Amino acid sequence: MKPIGDITRGTTNPNRLRRADRWFIHTMCSYLRSVDDPICVDLGFGRTPDTTIEWHDRLRHHVRDDITIVGVEIDRHRVAEASSAATAGLIFVHGGFEVPLPDTRTGGQLGVRHERAHAIRAFNVLRQYSESDVRPAWDVMAARLAPGGLLVDGTCDEIGRVCAWIAVRHDGHAAVPQSLTFATHVGSLDTPLAWAERLPKALIHRNIPGEPVHAFLTAADRAWASVAGIGVFGPRQRFIAMAQRLKEDGWPIADTSARWRLGELTIAWSAVAPSS
Ligand SMILES: C[S@@+](CC[C@H](N)C(=O)[O-])C[C@H]1O[C@@H](n2cnc3c(N)ncnc32)[C@H](O)[C@@H]1O
Repeated sequence: MKPIGDITRGTTNPNRLRRADRWFIHTMCSYLRSVDDPICVDLGFGRTPDTTIEWHDRLRHHVRDDITIVGVEIDRHRVAEASSAATAGLIFVHGGFEVPLPDTRTGGQLGVRHERAHAIRAFNVLRQYSESDVRPAWDVMAARLAPGGLLVDGTCDEIGRVCAWIAVRHDGHAAVPQSLTFATHVGSLDTPLAWAERLPKALIHRNIPGEPVHAFLTAADRAWASVAGIGVFGPRQRFIAMAQRLKEDGWPIADTSARWRLGELTIAWSAVAPSS
């Protein structure tokens, strides 16, 4: 079966997904500890598998030491080159959005089996597709999730100082986006408007007047400016104050200062979803 999708640029960088990894561990730790034989898929690992290896190491260290990570790549050459990095609980396979999973119980053939992934991360993958490709890709990938599993569709800059991702679940019929998270290096944040260029594909073309995500970024910029004075206590305190202000203004912001101080802001998808 031909993998679903297209080979795209393989740009990656060591450690650039650290903010997403930190959020992922916070969000999924209890769930991954509660399931048998957890498998997480890094779809589209790129020219080199650095970020997949880091994810494997972090999840094995912080979540559980028997977790399996499957790096899936649509470019066969990248899979062949990555394979030398395979180790206990780290496998590289050729495939696309259909998410082939190895049978880890029997060590058997690869293929689209009945087993499901507990999480799928597709970072900087859909950005190179068209907006109209996003929903079908989400549906195909999310259908491969185990109950309670999570798909993360995200983007970031070259060195991972600005990141944004959408958390997606599956309701038994289709993919259901849950939230949008921004994660940023607070010390170098001039304005939340800078997040616009890192929006995932589902939203990047929607940063225009009349669209909810544009209204949100505008509100975040205003809130950031309105708490400028708090910057004397440091950028983290200012970020916390911005999140609090947005919440007071009625935006469905998740979490508390414990996450905001990291430069992480999560908002319900319903508040930023495209208008049509
Ligand atoms: C820009 S790289 C991202 C690398 C890494 N995830 C990161 O964020 O640093 C995108 C990779 O996704 C791969 N890709 C694109 N579509 C894919 C698909 N449908 N299934 C699997 N891999 C895909 C491309 O071949 C490319 O190597």
